[in-house]
Amino acid sequence: MYNFTDDCLIGIEMIDNEHRELFRIVNDIQNLLDSDANDKYDRSIEMIDRLKEYAKEHFRHEELYMESIDHPELELQKKQHSDFCDKINEADMTIAGSGQDEFLTDLLKFLVTWLYRHIIGSDLLIGKLRPVNERSQKIEFTDKYLTGISQIDEEHKELFRIIDNLYSVMNDDFIADKYDEIISLLEQLKNYTKFHFEDEEAYMKKINYKDLPAQQRAHEAFIARLDDMDLAHIDENQQDTLEELLEFLTEWLTNHILHSDKNIGK
Ligand SMILES: [Fe+2]
Ligand SMILES: [Fe+2]
Ligand SMILES: [Fe+2]
Repeated sequence: MYNFTDDCLIGIEMIDNEHRELFRIVNDIQNLLDSDANDKYDRSIEMIDRLKEYAKEHFRHEELYMESIDHPELELQKKQHSDFCDKINEADMTIAGSGQDEFLTDLLKFLVTWLYRHIIGSDLLIGKLRPVNERSQKIEFTDKYLTGISQIDEEHKELFRIIDNLYSVMNDDFIADKYDEIISLLEQLKNYTKFHFEDEEAYMKKINYKDLPAQQRAHEAFIARLDDMDLAHIDENQQDTLEELLEFLTEWLTNHILHSDKNIGK
């Protein structure tokens, strides 16, 4: 059973309802695969097709919504959405015999992992990213971000510091080529983020924290976005890429601390 948990809610009703429906279809397919029905493979394949059609409709609605609010990640999202449809289109459903069960279960697992990552890593920011002229030039760690767990708070402060260094590079008009500095700070950010997530997850395990799986999913989605970054694109258009990247990092991280990490302390 793949749970559509509260951390997947983005706060826009139409989109949330459609995401919930996608999970409902995925769970129907999983239940069918787990059953003893004779025709379960044929029916599963039909349902995967239905999932694809529903996802396409949903992506269309979501893209229209993003267009209407001038969401800066529209192009990125369009690409991610078409990757999802391609993956289903490329799947060879004709696989016969005993391999069918494993094949369909794996495909479903891939699709649901993609959905979790995409919703938490990208959709969650719909309506939260600011237009270019309203973006801030800095990220400051204030008391509102404190979780009350000193180790976690110190690590969050360090993350803010690294991001702040990226802001400084962005605002420095005297460096002509910022590529090397951007790449080195991104590396630092990635490594420190992984280190921090491990610590945070270890702490949650220790206190038997009930939302650990949701946190793990969120962390994984964030790391995946960092790993998927197109470095060549950074070199082509340093200033704009940096600006978009910082907007994503700042919004994702502050949102995650305020809505997820702070609950660990409670
Ligand atoms: Fe999306
Ligand atoms: Fe954290
Ligand atoms: Fe976290």
